[in-house]
Amino acid sequence: MAIKDLHDEPFDDSTIAKLEIFEAYAEAWLPTFIMLGSSDICVFDFFAGTGFDKNGVAGSPIRLLEKIQGQKENILKKNVKVHLYLNEFEPNKRKQLKFEQLKAACKAFLEKDDELASHVEMVYCNEDFQELFPKLLPVIQKNPSLVYLDQNGIKFLSPKYFLEFEKTNRTDFLYFVSSSYFWRFGEREEFKMHLDIDIALAKSQGYKFIHRSITQQLRKKLHPDSGLMLYPFSIKKGANIHGIIFGATHPRAVDKFLKIAWQKNKINGDANFDIDDEVGNQQLDFFSPARLSKIDSFKKKVREAVLSGQISNNFQLLSFCYRLGHIGTHGAECLKEMKKNGEVAYDAQSPMVTYDSVYHKTKKQLVDYQVKKK
Ligand SMILES: C[S@@+](CC[C@H](N)C(=O)[O-])C[C@H]1O[C@@H](n2cnc3c(N)ncnc32)[C@H](O)[C@@H]1O
Repeated sequence: MAIKDLHDEPFDDSTIAKLEIFEAYAEAWLPTFIMLGSSDICVFDFFAGTGFDKNGVAGSPIRLLEKIQGQKENILKKNVKVHLYLNEFEPNKRKQLKFEQLKAACKAFLEKDDELASHVEMVYCNEDFQELFPKLLPVIQKNPSLVYLDQNGIKFLSPKYFLEFEKTNRTDFLYFVSSSYFWRFGEREEFKMHLDIDIALAKSQGYKFIHRSITQQLRKKLHPDSGLMLYPFSIKKGANIHGIIFGATHPRAVDKFLKIAWQKNKINGDANFDIDDEVGNQQLDFFSPARLSKIDSFKKKVREAVLSGQISNNFQLLSFCYRLGHIGTHGAECLKEMKKNGEVAYDAQSPMVTYDSVYHKTKKQLVDYQVKKK
């Protein structure tokens, strides 16, 4: 199957949507590890492209450099070294022109900022991902690492790469997947050898949900005790559905990603379009029952879990939110409504469904929810 080169044309809206999520996550991730005082932190962009598109719009490596630059003050104060690994490889070209463009673009960026350049180690690689990944895996595993895998297609989602992230505990990753290729070609042997997906199951859920479905199926490939959490963000590109899969083991990372995803789409939090047909479609007609929005249907689940005793404090509620791909705010709103209706009581100003209230060393506080009325 021929794959178009992303850099032959200006980036389209779906590429920009992807890049904005990539950079928003870098912006949230960098200060955490810089302020924690880690002496070395690593960022890997395994499919880095050229730096810019045809119109001079920044691609992932330049956006990463901009976000690193945005943290310059903290980087200097904490004396942190950021190691930025950028790989670009054109499988069918003898001359690696894109790699040369990438290096030139990044060098030009850093030449304008000596202070930053002295705290950033640039590691340029020009290798096929499948050869480079095993070489860099020990570096990923040893350091706090943020990994971008902005592949063309689907090939590198293969368990032999993907499952490696299960074994790391300070790695957050964002994978790009051309998910709708599975819909069309997933039954073919050349697809199955990379990733064996139950296509009949995916098709039973509907075309729009192909990226969600692949993410759900990948979760099932993880070890039962795996701490790795995976979240989809579907991106519509014309008739195609692509998407990002975010993965991390630490709840702080999950919290950051979910906040970004719900900021990008306040209705569904997992797509750059109205994936569940929610807009203007709450009640189809006067006679059909009102359809619950994604957030309301989540709140309904929270309410049932609280009334049944399955959730009895803020620690349990936040983990319930994360498990179902919601931000703590949605859980908190539900608890506030329940308190107002006299269904629960808690001895605090708010239901405290935030990362800090549950995980922060000094700010955490357990808040019990007592059911008053069922
Ligand atoms: C989707 S693009 C990445 C775009 C980039 N993130 C940006 O913002 O410009 C994928 C890139 O991976 C490169 N590539 C293709 N096959 C590769 C392989 N086997 N190993 C490494 N890079 C590869 C392509 O040349 C292309 O530039």
